[in-house]
Amino acid sequence: MGQIHLSRRTFAGTGLASAGLVLATGARAFAERPLTAESPLGPFFPLSPPAESDADLTWLKGHSKRASGQVIEVTGRVLDEKGNPIAGARLDLWQANAAGRYAHPSDPAVAPLDPDFQGFASIVSDSKGDWRIVTIKPGSYDSPIGRRTPHIHFDIRGKIQRNIAQLYFPEEAKLNAGDMLYKGLGSEAGTSVAVRNTNDPNKYNWDIVLMG
Ligand SMILES: [Fe+2]
Repeated sequence: MGQIHLSRRTFAGTGLASAGLVLATGARAFAERPLTAESPLGPFFPLSPPAESDADLTWLKGHSKRASGQVIEVTGRVLDEKGNPIAGARLDLWQANAAGRYAHPSDPAVAPLDPDFQGFASIVSDSKGDWRIVTIKPGSYDSPIGRRTPHIHFDIRGKIQRNIAQLYFPEEAKLNAGDMLYKGLGSEAGTSVAVRNTNDPNKYNWDIVLMG
């Protein structure tokens, strides 16, 4: 008899959450991909939709200068737990600039704003579940819960699951290890760490897995 392993997330907030529930089904067993770990929304989601929200966060229309910092490309797919692509998933993402500052009135950071940085994007996965952004590698910053390691916030809306997540960078292992939110992910942390391209260190890949 086959089994379907349901993530505790499936039943988050219910009494079943911690049970590590396993349902017996009659179906053949299949290997599931772990769902992407969830994170708090945090205080810096844009208060209102920014004027520009395309996939290249490094250029703003009418500006003669590109955003400051290390330009990176992040590509990935939105998949269900069986590895099937989720087309048409909406990804809203927001992040600090290279100096670790959000363009948000609640950010108390003294680091400077970058007037050339978009800081937010709203994109949709294509028919193969693929998505891509060009952005600046975010800086780390101090917060009430301690030093935050570089990260990009994502709000992903798939077919039946919406997930708030954070992307982390593999080369920041030391800062990651000291980050309260990263540590809080426990054994799921790996689902939030992008893969750095071995040929081009400015390129990363991050697949997002949602319930399909
Ligand atoms: Fe953040």
